Amino acid sequence: MPNSSRVSLIVLAAGQGTRMNSDLPKVLHRVAGAPLLHHALRAGMALEPQHVVVVTGHGGEAVAASARDFDETASVVVQEPQLGTAHAVAQAAPILAEVPGDAIVLYGDTPFIREDTLQAMRDARARHAVVVLGFEARDPGRYGRLITRGEELDRIVEFKDASAAEREITLCNSGVICAEAKLLFQLVAEVGNANAAGEYYLTDIVELARKRGLSAGVVVCDEAETMGVNTRAQLAEAEAAFQSRARAEALENGVTLTAPETVFFAMDTVVGRDAIIGPNVLFGPGVTIESGAEVKGFCHLEGCHISRGAQVGPFARLRPGAELAEDVHVGNFVEIKNAILDEGVKVGHLTYLGDAEVGEQTNIGAGTVTCNYDGVMKHRTVIGKRVFIGSDTMLVAPVRVGDEAMTASGSVITENVPAGALAVARARQVNKDGFAVRLMEKLRAVKAAKKDNT
Ligand code: UD1
Ligand code: CA
Repeated sequence: MPNSSRVSLIVLAAGQGTRMNSDLPKVLHRVAGAPLLHHALRAGMALEPQHVVVVTGHGGEAVAASARDFDETASVVVQEPQLGTAHAVAQAAPILAEVPGDAIVLYGDTPFIREDTLQAMRDARARHAVVVLGFEARDPGRYGRLITRGEELDRIVEFKDASAAEREITLCNSGVICAEAKLLFQLVAEVGNANAAGEYYLTDIVELARKRGLSAGVVVCDEAETMGVNTRAQLAEAEAAFQSRARAEALENGVTLTAPETVFFAMDTVVGRDAIIGPNVLFGPGVTIESGAEVKGFCHLEGCHISRGAQVGPFARLRPGAELAEDVHVGNFVEIKNAILDEGVKVGHLTYLGDAEVGEQTNIGAGTVTCNYDGVMKHRTVIGKRVFIGSDTMLVAPVRVGDEAMTASGSVITENVPAGALAVARARQVNKDGFAVRLMEKLRAVKAAKKDNT
């Protein structure tokens, strides 16, 4: 039976991450556009935790801000100095020790634990007081080893402290642990640091629980889920792992990817069934694409929404706040930021629309620019329905163009255009007969005279 009682999360993120060779705290390095920390929190969030506590140390302020960015109710505690994983968990005691229900310990640098896996751990709590997430390691390396006897987990031995025989064991500790919060903090308080590293090991709570006559058990997950990031090379591997899974999922969900290996998704990308994504498309955070929309090759999308029937690209850039209604067409070399395009709007070529609203069925000519920034402030451009914006129109915001109005090509529009009006804002053309021919003759003569003098 699924365990539906309340749970709290403790996310360990105090480690320095020395091997990243970076000024940025390790958990703030990004995979699929999101900090590692957000990936760890995402899996935990599926359990609808009543409390989330993030343990920070190195780069504490930035990590705290990032945690709150994901979940504004998250608590942040500082572990200073960092004396080991048990010591890190103990920092959450003031917040969680009296909270009823279970606590799950996650690592901020381990992004791919699945929510089903966490749920399986919660369910296993019906059989064991302490549940540890383990995996069969292809190369067990320096992971802690799980010493089991049948269904029971006797203890966890860290690599540094393991005997040669124990090092042969391939069932390893992922680091994720689940226990009743109250018990977890009691056990953590008993952990000592008499070991090879001189650290307070969270892993010691298994043996301490067993000494109390309590049961400990293991839930085994796929090794891919437990992948941790300690180096830039592993960060790149994590990115690759994320992308190959995201591509497979998109295909599975009925999305056409012409060249899957060239499409890069963000952690939160949503693409509807029967959408078509061309080659070399990059998704930044916050993109949703409805069923049946098409994104052609070489588009860069971030913080935008593309509705059913819309077509984007090739070579389009949609920035945060770009909202495309149904059947909108956005063509090549078009950039859209913080702008709402109503149904059937066409923006075919070479255009910037920023801080704008465009009414339904309006056509925006090539080379149009909303001049939204005066060097200090941003201003809005509001364009009505069924408007025709001539090619190379500069719309100097704040400015409004009424329904069914037109602007003449090459206009610089600085004043509002009433509905139904044609705005012409450019110098009138003058043709000077024979002038071009005479001018060219003169220039050639000047050039020839120069040559004779040298
Ligand atoms: C830990 C486990 C090991 C397991 C491995 C899986 C212990 C003692 N060992 O080892 O059994 O196989 O993870 O990757 O738990 N952290 C803090 N404060 C600290 C120390 C660590 O917040 O004082 C955080 C780190 O930022 C990191 C996590 O805890 O997110 C794990 O710490 P790390 O030092 O990487 O543990 P390992 O030695 O890899
Ligand atoms: Ca580690």
